[in-house]
Amino acid sequence: LFLGADVTSLKVGMADPVWPTYPWHLALVSWPDSGLGFLIEHGHRAVGYLVGMCVIVLALGLWFAQPRRLLKWLGLMALAAVIGQGLLGGFRVRLNALAGTDLALVHGCFAQLVFALFTCLVTLTSPDWDEPVFSRPANDSDRLRFWSASTAALVFAQLLLGGVVRHTHVLFGPRGHLLLAFAVIGAAIRLAHVIHERRPVDRHLARLATLLLILTGLQVLLGVESWMLRFGAGPLADFRPATFAQALVRTGHFLAGSGIFATAVVVALWAYRASLANFDRASRTACRVEGAI
Ligand code: HEM
Ligand code: HEM
Repeated sequence: LFLGADVTSLKVGMADPVWPTYPWHLALVSWPDSGLGFLIEHGHRAVGYLVGMCVIVLALGLWFAQPRRLLKWLGLMALAAVIGQGLLGGFRVRLNALAGTDLALVHGCFAQLVFALFTCLVTLTSPDWDEPVFSRPANDSDRLRFWSASTAALVFAQLLLGGVVRHTHVLFGPRGHLLLAFAVIGAAIRLAHVIHERRPVDRHLARLATLLLILTGLQVLLGVESWMLRFGAGPLADFRPATFAQALVRTGHFLAGSGIFATAVVVALWAYRASLANFDRASRTACRVEGAI
Protein backbone atom coordinates (compact mmCIF):
# COMPACT_ATOMS: atom_id res chain seq x y z
CA LEU A 1 0.00 0.00 0.00
CA PHE A 2 2.82 2.37 0.95
CA LEU A 3 4.72 1.88 -2.31
CA GLY A 4 1.55 1.95 -4.43
CA ALA A 5 0.28 5.13 -2.79
CA ASP A 6 3.74 6.65 -3.26
CA VAL A 7 3.58 5.82 -6.99
CA THR A 8 0.40 7.90 -7.18
CA SER A 9 1.64 10.71 -4.91
CA LEU A 10 4.84 11.07 -6.96
CA LYS A 11 2.80 10.83 -10.19
CA VAL A 12 5.01 8.08 -11.59
CA GLY A 13 2.19 5.68 -12.53
CA MET A 14 3.55 5.25 -16.04
CA ALA A 15 7.27 5.29 -15.17
CA ASP A 16 7.43 1.69 -16.36
CA PRO A 17 5.03 1.31 -19.30
CA VAL A 18 5.67 -2.45 -19.78
CA TRP A 19 3.15 -5.04 -18.57
CA PRO A 20 3.37 -8.03 -18.02
CA THR A 21 6.32 -6.75 -16.03
CA TYR A 22 9.83 -7.56 -17.21
CA PRO A 23 12.03 -8.24 -15.33
CA TRP A 24 9.71 -9.11 -12.43
CA HIS A 25 12.41 -8.25 -9.84
CA LEU A 26 14.77 -5.31 -9.31
CA ALA A 27 18.09 -7.15 -9.69
CA LEU A 28 18.51 -6.50 -13.44
CA VAL A 29 17.34 -2.90 -13.34
CA SER A 30 20.31 -0.55 -13.76
CA TRP A 31 19.97 1.56 -10.62
CA PRO A 32 21.97 4.68 -11.59
CA ASP A 33 20.02 5.09 -14.90
CA SER A 34 16.56 4.53 -13.47
CA GLY A 35 14.94 7.46 -11.74
CA LEU A 36 13.56 7.16 -8.20
CA GLY A 37 10.04 7.08 -9.69
CA PHE A 38 10.82 4.07 -11.84
CA LEU A 39 12.39 2.23 -8.89
CA ILE A 40 9.36 2.90 -6.67
CA GLU A 41 6.91 1.86 -9.40
CA HIS A 42 8.91 -1.25 -10.28
CA GLY A 43 9.47 -2.00 -6.57
CA HIS A 44 5.70 -1.78 -6.06
CA ARG A 45 5.21 -4.51 -8.65
CA ALA A 46 8.01 -6.67 -7.19
CA VAL A 47 6.42 -6.44 -3.73
CA GLY A 48 3.09 -7.29 -5.42
CA TYR A 49 4.65 -10.56 -6.63
CA LEU A 50 5.94 -11.27 -3.12
CA VAL A 51 2.46 -10.65 -1.67
CA GLY A 52 1.08 -13.00 -4.35
CA MET A 53 3.51 -15.79 -3.33
CA CYS A 54 2.69 -15.34 0.37
CA VAL A 55 -1.05 -15.42 -0.23
CA ILE A 56 -0.78 -18.68 -2.23
CA VAL A 57 0.90 -20.28 0.80
CA LEU A 58 -1.70 -18.73 3.11
CA ALA A 59 -4.67 -19.94 1.05
CA LEU A 60 -3.25 -23.48 0.77
CA GLY A 61 -2.44 -23.52 4.48
CA LEU A 62 -5.93 -22.40 5.46
CA TRP A 63 -7.62 -24.77 3.02
CA PHE A 64 -5.76 -27.90 4.16
CA ALA A 65 -4.94 -27.17 7.82
CA GLN A 66 -7.88 -25.13 9.09
CA PRO A 67 -10.95 -26.92 10.40
CA ARG A 68 -13.03 -23.70 10.25
CA ARG A 69 -15.02 -23.45 7.02
CA LEU A 70 -15.18 -19.65 7.23
CA LEU A 71 -11.38 -19.39 7.22
CA LYS A 72 -10.95 -21.86 4.35
CA TRP A 73 -13.17 -19.71 2.15
CA LEU A 74 -11.67 -16.42 3.35
CA GLY A 75 -8.22 -17.78 2.37
CA LEU A 76 -9.47 -18.44 -1.17
CA MET A 77 -11.12 -15.02 -1.24
CA ALA A 78 -7.82 -13.40 -0.22
CA LEU A 79 -6.04 -15.22 -3.06
CA ALA A 80 -8.68 -14.15 -5.60
CA ALA A 81 -8.56 -10.57 -4.27
CA VAL A 82 -4.77 -10.29 -4.66
CA ILE A 83 -4.93 -11.76 -8.18
CA GLY A 84 -7.67 -9.23 -9.03
CA GLN A 85 -5.62 -6.41 -7.50
CA GLY A 86 -2.55 -7.35 -9.57
CA LEU A 87 -4.63 -7.57 -12.76
CA LEU A 88 -6.18 -4.16 -12.09
CA GLY A 89 -2.64 -2.77 -11.64
CA GLY A 90 -1.62 -4.34 -14.96
CA PHE A 91 -4.69 -3.00 -16.77
CA ARG A 92 -4.01 0.46 -15.28
CA VAL A 93 -0.66 0.40 -17.11
CA ARG A 94 -1.77 -1.42 -20.27
CA LEU A 95 -4.94 0.61 -20.85
CA ASN A 96 -3.46 4.00 -19.94
CA ALA A 97 -4.17 5.45 -23.40
CA LEU A 98 -7.82 4.34 -23.20
CA ALA A 99 -8.76 4.86 -19.54
CA GLY A 100 -6.11 7.30 -18.24
CA THR A 101 -6.04 7.27 -14.42
CA ASP A 102 -9.63 5.92 -14.09
CA LEU A 103 -8.33 2.40 -13.52
CA ALA A 104 -5.84 3.76 -10.96
CA LEU A 105 -8.88 4.94 -8.99
CA VAL A 106 -10.40 1.45 -9.13
CA HIS A 107 -7.03 -0.17 -8.28
CA GLY A 108 -6.55 2.18 -5.29
CA CYS A 109 -10.06 1.68 -3.89
CA PHE A 110 -9.96 -2.10 -4.39
CA ALA A 111 -6.65 -2.13 -2.47
CA GLN A 112 -8.56 -0.80 0.56
CA LEU A 113 -10.91 -3.79 0.41
CA VAL A 114 -8.00 -6.21 0.04
CA PHE A 115 -6.28 -4.70 3.08
CA ALA A 116 -9.47 -4.87 5.15
CA LEU A 117 -9.93 -8.53 4.16
CA PHE A 118 -6.42 -9.34 5.41
CA THR A 119 -7.11 -7.48 8.65
CA CYS A 120 -10.22 -9.66 9.10
CA LEU A 121 -8.08 -12.76 8.60
CA VAL A 122 -5.65 -11.55 11.27
CA THR A 123 -8.56 -10.98 13.66
CA LEU A 124 -10.27 -14.31 12.97
CA THR A 125 -7.05 -16.31 13.42
CA SER A 126 -5.94 -14.50 16.59
CA PRO A 127 -6.23 -16.35 19.94
CA ASP A 128 -8.41 -13.45 21.20
CA TRP A 129 -11.17 -14.49 18.81
CA ASP A 130 -11.53 -17.83 20.66
CA GLU A 131 -12.19 -16.17 24.02
CA PRO A 132 -15.77 -16.62 25.30
CA VAL A 133 -18.27 -14.29 23.61
CA PHE A 134 -18.96 -11.20 25.71
CA SER A 135 -22.73 -11.07 26.15
CA ARG A 136 -24.67 -7.80 25.72
CA PRO A 137 -28.38 -7.10 26.06
CA ALA A 138 -30.16 -7.44 22.67
CA ASN A 139 -30.86 -3.71 22.10
CA ASP A 140 -27.26 -2.90 23.05
CA SER A 141 -25.90 -5.42 20.50
CA ASP A 142 -28.24 -4.06 17.83
CA ARG A 143 -26.94 -0.55 18.45
CA LEU A 144 -23.33 -1.69 18.28
CA ARG A 145 -23.98 -3.62 15.06
CA PHE A 146 -25.78 -0.65 13.50
CA TRP A 147 -23.09 1.90 14.35
CA SER A 148 -20.16 -0.32 13.45
CA ALA A 149 -21.65 -1.26 10.05
CA SER A 150 -22.67 2.37 9.36
CA THR A 151 -19.22 3.70 10.27
CA ALA A 152 -17.50 1.16 8.01
CA ALA A 153 -19.91 2.00 5.14
CA LEU A 154 -19.44 5.77 5.59
CA VAL A 155 -15.65 5.40 5.71
CA PHE A 156 -15.71 3.34 2.52
CA ALA A 157 -17.80 6.00 0.77
CA GLN A 158 -15.24 8.54 2.01
CA LEU A 159 -12.40 6.46 0.54
CA LEU A 160 -14.19 6.37 -2.82
CA LEU A 161 -14.63 10.16 -2.79
CA GLY A 162 -10.97 10.55 -1.70
CA GLY A 163 -10.04 8.46 -4.75
CA VAL A 164 -12.07 10.80 -6.95
CA VAL A 165 -10.18 13.79 -5.47
CA ARG A 166 -6.84 12.07 -5.96
CA HIS A 167 -7.26 10.74 -9.47
CA THR A 168 -9.66 13.14 -11.22
CA HIS A 169 -10.55 16.82 -11.41
CA VAL A 170 -14.30 16.27 -11.03
CA LEU A 171 -15.76 18.89 -8.66
CA PHE A 172 -18.13 16.66 -6.71
CA GLY A 173 -15.02 14.84 -5.40
CA PRO A 174 -13.59 17.57 -3.13
CA ARG A 175 -17.04 18.88 -2.18
CA GLY A 176 -18.35 15.43 -1.20
CA HIS A 177 -15.08 14.37 0.48
CA LEU A 178 -15.03 17.44 2.69
CA LEU A 179 -18.71 17.17 3.68
CA LEU A 180 -18.57 13.43 4.31
CA ALA A 181 -15.54 13.95 6.59
CA PHE A 182 -17.94 15.49 9.16
CA ALA A 183 -20.21 12.44 8.97
CA VAL A 184 -17.22 10.08 9.39
CA ILE A 185 -15.95 11.99 12.43
CA GLY A 186 -19.47 12.01 13.94
CA ALA A 187 -19.96 8.28 13.32
CA ALA A 188 -16.54 7.41 14.83
CA ILE A 189 -17.34 9.41 18.00
CA ARG A 190 -20.83 7.87 18.28
CA LEU A 191 -19.40 4.35 17.81
CA ALA A 192 -16.80 4.95 20.56
CA HIS A 193 -19.62 6.21 22.78
CA VAL A 194 -21.77 3.11 22.12
CA ILE A 195 -18.78 0.90 22.97
CA HIS A 196 -18.04 2.75 26.23
CA GLU A 197 -21.60 3.18 27.49
CA ARG A 198 -21.80 -0.56 28.29
CA ARG A 199 -20.14 -1.63 31.58
CA PRO A 200 -17.85 -3.54 31.90
CA VAL A 201 -16.28 -2.32 28.66
CA ASP A 202 -15.11 -5.07 26.25
CA ARG A 203 -11.32 -4.56 26.17
CA HIS A 204 -10.94 -5.48 22.47
CA LEU A 205 -13.64 -3.04 21.44
CA ALA A 206 -12.28 -0.33 23.75
CA ARG A 207 -8.80 -0.65 22.19
CA LEU A 208 -10.25 -0.51 18.67
CA ALA A 209 -12.40 2.54 19.55
CA THR A 210 -9.30 4.40 20.81
CA LEU A 211 -7.39 3.48 17.64
CA LEU A 212 -10.29 4.63 15.47
CA LEU A 213 -10.47 8.01 17.20
CA ILE A 214 -6.68 8.57 17.08
CA LEU A 215 -6.50 7.66 13.38
CA THR A 216 -9.50 9.87 12.53
CA GLY A 217 -7.94 12.86 14.35
CA LEU A 218 -4.63 12.28 12.54
CA GLN A 219 -6.53 11.91 9.26
CA VAL A 220 -8.09 15.36 9.59
CA LEU A 221 -4.60 16.89 10.06
CA LEU A 222 -3.19 14.96 7.09
CA GLY A 223 -6.32 15.79 5.07
CA VAL A 224 -5.90 19.54 5.64
CA GLU A 225 -2.22 19.31 4.62
CA SER A 226 -3.09 17.25 1.51
CA TRP A 227 -5.76 19.83 0.70
CA MET A 228 -3.24 22.67 0.95
CA LEU A 229 -0.80 20.80 -1.30
CA ARG A 230 -3.50 19.97 -3.81
CA PHE A 231 -5.56 23.18 -3.89
CA GLY A 232 -3.76 25.74 -1.68
CA ALA A 233 -1.06 26.71 -4.17
CA GLY A 234 -3.31 27.63 -7.07
CA PRO A 235 -5.00 25.63 -9.81
CA LEU A 236 -1.76 24.47 -11.41
CA ALA A 237 -0.32 23.00 -8.18
CA ASP A 238 -1.48 19.52 -9.12
CA PHE A 239 0.43 19.60 -12.42
CA ARG A 240 3.80 20.32 -10.79
CA PRO A 241 6.00 17.37 -9.72
CA ALA A 242 5.57 16.62 -6.00
CA THR A 243 8.62 16.72 -3.72
CA PHE A 244 9.29 13.60 -1.66
CA ALA A 245 8.07 15.30 1.57
CA GLN A 246 4.83 16.42 -0.11
CA ALA A 247 4.31 12.92 -1.48
CA LEU A 248 4.79 11.47 2.02
CA VAL A 249 1.98 13.64 3.44
CA ARG A 250 -0.43 12.57 0.70
CA THR A 251 0.66 8.94 1.00
CA GLY A 252 0.17 9.23 4.78
CA HIS A 253 -3.40 10.40 4.22
CA PHE A 254 -4.06 7.37 1.98
CA LEU A 255 -2.54 4.98 4.55
CA ALA A 256 -4.39 6.48 7.53
CA GLY A 257 -7.57 6.05 5.42
CA SER A 258 -6.72 2.34 5.02
CA GLY A 259 -6.19 2.11 8.79
CA ILE A 260 -9.52 3.79 9.60
CA PHE A 261 -11.46 1.56 7.21
CA ALA A 262 -9.79 -1.65 8.41
CA THR A 263 -10.36 -0.67 12.08
CA ALA A 264 -14.06 0.08 11.42
CA VAL A 265 -14.43 -3.29 9.65
CA VAL A 266 -12.78 -5.13 12.56
CA VAL A 267 -15.10 -3.39 15.06
CA ALA A 268 -18.03 -4.59 12.92
CA LEU A 269 -16.53 -8.09 12.95
CA TRP A 270 -16.47 -8.04 16.78
CA ALA A 271 -20.01 -6.66 16.81
CA TYR A 272 -21.22 -9.55 14.65
CA ARG A 273 -19.05 -12.01 16.55
CA ALA A 274 -21.88 -13.91 18.21
CA SER A 275 -23.48 -14.82 14.85
CA LEU A 276 -20.08 -15.62 13.28
CA ALA A 277 -19.21 -17.75 16.31
CA ASN A 278 -22.41 -19.77 15.77
CA PHE A 279 -21.46 -20.30 12.11
CA ASP A 280 -17.99 -21.42 13.13
CA ARG A 281 -19.26 -23.67 15.91
CA ALA A 282 -21.54 -25.42 13.40
CA SER A 283 -18.65 -26.01 10.97
CA ARG A 284 -16.39 -27.23 13.78
CA THR A 285 -19.06 -29.69 14.87
CA ALA A 286 -19.39 -30.90 11.26
CA CYS A 287 -15.59 -31.37 11.08
CA ARG A 288 -15.61 -33.27 14.34
CA VAL A 289 -18.34 -35.59 13.04
CA GLU A 290 -16.31 -36.18 9.86
CA GLY A 291 -13.21 -36.84 12.01
CA ALA A 292 -11.23 -33.87 10.60
CA ILE A 293 -10.46 -32.58 14.14
C1 HEM B 1 -0.73 -6.96 -4.01
C2 HEM B 1 -0.83 -6.30 -5.10
C3 HEM B 1 -1.03 -4.80 -5.19
C4 HEM B 1 -1.51 -3.90 -4.26
C5 HEM B 1 -2.03 -4.20 -2.85
C6 HEM B 1 -1.48 -2.60 -4.87
C7 HEM B 1 -1.86 -1.42 -4.25
C8 HEM B 1 -1.78 -0.15 -4.81
C9 HEM B 1 -2.17 1.07 -4.17
C10 HEM B 1 -2.74 1.17 -2.76
C11 HEM B 1 -1.94 2.09 -5.02
C12 HEM B 1 -2.19 3.57 -4.75
C13 HEM B 1 -3.51 4.01 -5.32
C14 HEM B 1 -3.86 5.41 -4.88
O1 HEM B 1 -3.04 6.11 -4.31
O2 HEM B 1 -5.00 5.81 -5.12
C15 HEM B 1 -1.36 1.52 -6.22
C16 HEM B 1 -0.97 2.25 -7.33
C17 HEM B 1 -0.48 1.70 -8.48
N1 HEM B 1 -0.27 0.35 -8.72
FE1 HEM B 1 -0.63 -1.17 -7.45
N2 HEM B 1 -0.98 -2.72 -6.15
C18 HEM B 1 -0.69 -4.05 -6.38
C19 HEM B 1 -0.17 -4.60 -7.54
C20 HEM B 1 0.16 -3.88 -8.67
C21 HEM B 1 0.68 -4.45 -9.90
C22 HEM B 1 0.95 -5.93 -10.13
C23 HEM B 1 0.87 -3.40 -10.77
C24 HEM B 1 1.37 -3.35 -12.19
C25 HEM B 1 1.58 -4.26 -12.97
C26 HEM B 1 0.48 -2.19 -10.10
C27 HEM B 1 0.55 -0.94 -10.66
C28 HEM B 1 0.21 0.23 -10.02
C29 HEM B 1 0.35 1.54 -10.62
C30 HEM B 1 0.85 1.85 -12.02
C31 HEM B 1 -0.10 2.46 -9.65
C32 HEM B 1 -0.15 3.99 -9.78
C33 HEM B 1 -1.50 4.40 -10.30
C34 HEM B 1 -1.52 5.88 -10.63
O3 HEM B 1 -1.19 6.22 -11.74
O4 HEM B 1 -1.87 6.67 -9.74
N3 HEM B 1 0.05 -2.52 -8.82
N4 HEM B 1 -1.29 0.15 -6.06
C1 HEM C 1 -12.00 12.03 8.20
C2 HEM C 1 -11.98 11.11 7.34
C3 HEM C 1 -11.20 11.07 6.06
C4 HEM C 1 -10.89 9.90 5.41
C5 HEM C 1 -11.23 8.48 5.86
C6 HEM C 1 -10.15 10.27 4.21
C7 HEM C 1 -9.63 9.36 3.32
C8 HEM C 1 -8.97 9.68 2.15
C9 HEM C 1 -8.35 8.73 1.26
C10 HEM C 1 -8.27 7.23 1.51
C11 HEM C 1 -7.86 9.42 0.19
C12 HEM C 1 -7.11 8.81 -0.99
C13 HEM C 1 -8.03 7.95 -1.79
C14 HEM C 1 -7.37 7.16 -2.90
O1 HEM C 1 -6.31 7.54 -3.41
O2 HEM C 1 -7.94 6.11 -3.28
C15 HEM C 1 -8.14 10.81 0.42
C16 HEM C 1 -7.76 11.83 -0.44
C17 HEM C 1 -7.83 13.16 -0.10
N1 HEM C 1 -8.39 13.69 1.05
FE1 HEM C 1 -9.22 12.69 2.58
N2 HEM C 1 -10.05 11.64 4.13
C18 HEM C 1 -10.67 12.18 5.25
C19 HEM C 1 -10.77 13.51 5.56
C20 HEM C 1 -10.26 14.54 4.81
C21 HEM C 1 -10.28 15.95 5.17
C22 HEM C 1 -10.90 16.51 6.46
C23 HEM C 1 -9.67 16.63 4.14
C24 HEM C 1 -9.39 18.08 3.96
C25 HEM C 1 -9.66 19.02 4.74
C26 HEM C 1 -9.25 15.66 3.13
C27 HEM C 1 -8.60 15.96 1.97
C28 HEM C 1 -8.21 15.07 1.02
C29 HEM C 1 -7.49 15.42 -0.22
C30 HEM C 1 -7.08 16.82 -0.65
C31 HEM C 1 -7.27 14.23 -0.90
C32 HEM C 1 -6.50 14.06 -2.23
C33 HEM C 1 -5.06 13.92 -1.87
C34 HEM C 1 -4.16 13.78 -3.08
O3 HEM C 1 -4.54 14.22 -4.18
O4 HEM C 1 -3.07 13.22 -2.91
N3 HEM C 1 -9.61 14.40 3.58
N4 HEM C 1 -8.81 10.95 1.61
